[in-house]
Amino acid sequence: MVTNDIRYIGVNDRKIDLFEGQYAVPEGMSYNSYVILDEKIAVLDTVDGDFKEEWLANLEKAVDGRKPDYLVVHHMEPDHSANIVSFAEKYPEAVIVSSAKAFNMMKNFFGTDFSDRRIVVKEGDVLELGEHKLEFTEAPMVHWPEVIVSYDSKDKVLFSADAFGKFGALDSDEDDWACEARRYYFGIVGKYGVQVKKLLEKVSKFDVQTICPLHGPVLKENLGYYFGLYITWSSYDVESEGVVVAYASAHGHTKKAAELLAEKLTENGCPKVSLIDLARDDMAECVEDAFRYGKIVLCSITYNGDIFPFMKDFINHLTERSFQNRTVAFMENGSWAPQAAKIMAKMLENCKNITYAQNNVKITSALSESSIAQIEALAKELA
Ligand code: FEO
Repeated sequence: MVTNDIRYIGVNDRKIDLFEGQYAVPEGMSYNSYVILDEKIAVLDTVDGDFKEEWLANLEKAVDGRKPDYLVVHHMEPDHSANIVSFAEKYPEAVIVSSAKAFNMMKNFFGTDFSDRRIVVKEGDVLELGEHKLEFTEAPMVHWPEVIVSYDSKDKVLFSADAFGKFGALDSDEDDWACEARRYYFGIVGKYGVQVKKLLEKVSKFDVQTICPLHGPVLKENLGYYFGLYITWSSYDVESEGVVVAYASAHGHTKKAAELLAEKLTENGCPKVSLIDLARDDMAECVEDAFRYGKIVLCSITYNGDIFPFMKDFINHLTERSFQNRTVAFMENGSWAPQAAKIMAKMLENCKNITYAQNNVKITSALSESSIAQIEALAKELA
């Protein structure tokens, strides 16, 4: 139960390995759905297609013999929209409520846009349920263009769609919200900070006391903490002091140099060093750390006249998510024609507000007196 009149009817997915086909979710995933019970009954979003029966049973139990009047669709991504047709068939008198763009998507996904039983809503429209009134706010690109969020002024609840979501099923033991919420945020909407910020500004007029996202726990206490993190993330601001040392190494020499740099950074008093093996560590965790901390050292070998594929993939993940406002240093290794630093710098050239370190590191095959001195100088500069 979220409030007296608002029930949770979502499901936990413990079988999923890759969310959206790419994000490892060892603690599973929740697909949240809610019901508001008033003179009229509104169901808010459906769940993933694999959970149709469970969800419909949850819904049936929540409405306790009554029939839903509305299905509000905040977001059309299939993890939330897959059961719209099943719902519409089971409750033929219910009306579907969503944005114009979402109805276009329904036509493409399901072959129908429910033209005979729908309400198209836009910014500021209100759906009256009785005491509860749902006011809609458009949230384009948080995470798709059709997204709307809604605010229930009676219980002061924000139904925030993907915003404020996180990886992990609701029955997982994981209790650090920020860790998996951050990885989710930068993976899913990291590119759209401007749009997320705009949404935060728009909903700031509401007296939000509870956030009901489409993934992860309902948030009821200390909401300033969650809003604060979302402001930091959507502004691409540094969240924590620290240095990320991300390496891509073929035979261990670049790895050894990266480890030495991490050690020297710690010796020099750096509050946090995140040492990352780009070939083995979870890529979404690596991306998360790059956006969390203020400084990053990119360490790559030269490979096929380019950089090592894992580093290339990593930098692409950063640039396509509008990586900015950070200090960057390079460590390159090359046995005959080192050019990784030049290539990495070129890949970052369109990123805004990047400060490049004075000291970079050049390794020719293995650590030498000269490259160790460069590592010491870089550690001093960054710490
Ligand atoms: Fe949870 Fe963008 O879907």
